[in-house]
Amino acid sequence: MEVVVMPSYEAMSLAAAKLVADILNAKPNAVLGMATGSTPLGVYQELVRMHREEGLDFAQVTTFNLDEYVGLPRQHTQSYHYFMHENFFRHVNVSPGNIYIPSGTTSNYRSFCDWYEQRIKDCGGIDVQILGIGSDGHIAFNEPGSSLSSRTRLKTLAKSTIDDNARFFDRPSDVPIYAITMGVGTILEARQLVLLATGANKSQAVAAMVEGPVTSMTTASALQLHPSAQVFLDESAASELKMREYYDWVKIKKPHAPPV
Ligand code: PGA
Repeated sequence: MEVVVMPSYEAMSLAAAKLVADILNAKPNAVLGMATGSTPLGVYQELVRMHREEGLDFAQVTTFNLDEYVGLPRQHTQSYHYFMHENFFRHVNVSPGNIYIPSGTTSNYRSFCDWYEQRIKDCGGIDVQILGIGSDGHIAFNEPGSSLSSRTRLKTLAKSTIDDNARFFDRPSDVPIYAITMGVGTILEARQLVLLATGANKSQAVAAMVEGPVTSMTTASALQLHPSAQVFLDESAASELKMREYYDWVKIKKPHAPPV
């Protein structure tokens, strides 16, 4: 795991967007794993800017989103379908037929989840998966206790997640209780993982993910098992890390290492 602490949210977002753009420039038909939430917005804004001003091309790209609320139709302003359309897809040239977001309204969740897993495989697997982290240490909606080999499935959200997300809904009782989410095992199969975290309310979850034991109590700690995971943090999200000096040392020295 590579931990990169950036001086600000903006700098962190630009660094992560550049990483995605580099992958796309090397492989124009890359499969991108998308995340929702407030954290990746800066990355999406920068990718949109690169598309408009530098011609970054998404024409051959396929995308898979991590999760969706159960029970929200795609036009609902808090659905992740809506979020992705508003914040990313309507600004770039991903072909609509290449966009995959879990359905929150299927009549058969089990078979939908199996189909979603199969689509990821049929599209060649995810090249780079963007991730946020919940204050309870979740990735996607893999709440504490989720198996580290879990696959796409319907999940009951933790109370803390429902509380965290209540800010987006008119009434707390409007927040969905269930979601459909890629599993930790699904996420670990992506070739590269890029996790972003910002703000002091994520600092404990970040410390547990990076420096704590690998445990289903912090599903983000599964990133320790991945051969190519990068964690981009701003100063406040990094504030509880004990090995901070080492991460900064690596950031300075790694660019000068012999080519591998
Ligand atoms: P946030 O959500 O980016 O809105 O903080 C992250 C998450 O819960 O995964």
